Amino acid sequence: MEKFDVVIIGSGPGGYVAAIRAGQLGLKTAIIEKDKELGGTCLNVGCIPSKALLTSSDHFVFAKKEADKHGIVIENAHVDLNKMQQRKDKVVKTLTGGVRALMKTNKVTTFEGLGTITAPGKVSVKSSDGKTQEIETKNIIIATGSAAIELPFAKFDSKTIVSSTEALTFTEPPPKFLVIGAGAIGLELGSVWARLGSQVTILEFLPRIAVGFDLELSNLLQRSLTAQGITFHLETKVSAIKIDNGRVTATATKGNEELKFQADKVLVSVGRRPFSEGLGAEKVGVEFDDKKRIKVDEHFKTKVDGIYAIGDVIAGPMLAHKAEDEGIACVERIAGKDGHINYDAIAGIIYTNPELAGVGLTEDQAKDKGIDYRVGRFPFRANARAIANDELDGIVKFVADAKTDRILGAHILQHAASELIAEAVSVIEFGGSSEDLARTCHSHPTLSEAVKEAAMNVEKRALHILNR
Ligand code: NAI
Repeated sequence: MEKFDVVIIGSGPGGYVAAIRAGQLGLKTAIIEKDKELGGTCLNVGCIPSKALLTSSDHFVFAKKEADKHGIVIENAHVDLNKMQQRKDKVVKTLTGGVRALMKTNKVTTFEGLGTITAPGKVSVKSSDGKTQEIETKNIIIATGSAAIELPFAKFDSKTIVSSTEALTFTEPPPKFLVIGAGAIGLELGSVWARLGSQVTILEFLPRIAVGFDLELSNLLQRSLTAQGITFHLETKVSAIKIDNGRVTATATKGNEELKFQADKVLVSVGRRPFSEGLGAEKVGVEFDDKKRIKVDEHFKTKVDGIYAIGDVIAGPMLAHKAEDEGIACVERIAGKDGHINYDAIAGIIYTNPELAGVGLTEDQAKDKGIDYRVGRFPFRANARAIANDELDGIVKFVADAKTDRILGAHILQHAASELIAEAVSVIEFGGSSEDLARTCHSHPTLSEAVKEAAMNVEKRALHILNR
């Protein structure tokens, strides 16, 4: 029986990054993956393929609707979806291949099969040919991620009622595409297919889209997406879905009204649940919370010595970068080092156009906590580079403590918000103030000047603005 220091179950961003760090620290490490490719949901059927399609479909919109403004004439711009999908597959292959290479470089042994914990320190791996092998290890890290939640009345059939996995592989845009849930997945995949020609309707149970993000920016995003042709029905609860001759009819209630929606396909994107089936964790004494997430302490240790859990399978935002940082911190603590993670400095991003990014407290959260705060805003329509780029949608907004000026939250709506937010994350990580950012020299002309100006505007001293 092979013996390891650390065995990681699941090779998503949490698991494979933990494996790399364990390899770097000289621990004898193995990773177990039930799917053929390494990389988990994020690389294979999540973050990465969706970003490939978002980029391609954004280029199409540029070619069709915006190139002309730049004096670029593109006649008969049209989509070869097959080629677009092939490019997406190639992007995924490049990255999953890269993870495999990283495992080799870091001397991590890879097992293909379903990993089950049979006892503390013992894991069995059942491969697709039915063969089982036993592995012995000092430590186990569970990094099995999450799976899409199904609506009880609308089971996924992978053709008409689909999850994000299938919505990334359509071979033609569904003429009418219904999306249930206006979270990250619904908004991103709704955007992809709206750009490629589908008539997209998004039904959301709450009175707002992009819950968890600052309401002011979520409302601005909704306005932009509506202008792009997406229809939203908020405060709308879907109660039934019927499939007749391959066509969808969804019944929903909005106040006292009953509404019917017809579509060719429906994406159910109402959240994800921790994935821990077939793991054997409960049999060895690992405890779960009421949402079936594995309970861990601040060192990611479960109730059982030598068994740890990280990522989507434990509490906290279901984000790849959160899982990565937990993986690193968990392994470092196993190795006797001081692993670090700061949950106040983890940004959430929705990769629509404009992108919505936020870190730390929203204005409503600051209000609810009774914090005395100040807000600084700056619109991109007053930023030179945004004007040159013709990317005027969106704002930067800071929430800062009124007494100490410490930045509590940063929120950005902009085509490049996913990159711009990183500066605010660093400042929050270092406990910085809006004045720190306002005094930092930002290159001209860049979008990042809007970040500086919003920080300056916490003290109502932004420069390039007529109305503060
Ligand atoms: P979500 O939890 O972000 O949003 C689901 C939405 O569906 C909520 O607004 C909820 O109110 C609504 N909803 C629930 N039941 C409903 C019903 N019966 N009728 C109408 N609306 C209903 O979930 P989503 O978008 O599926 O994403 C799952 C997880 O994956 C999230 O934690 C998300 O953060 C993560 N993710 C992150 C991405 C990113 O960082 N860009 C991309 C994709 C996923």
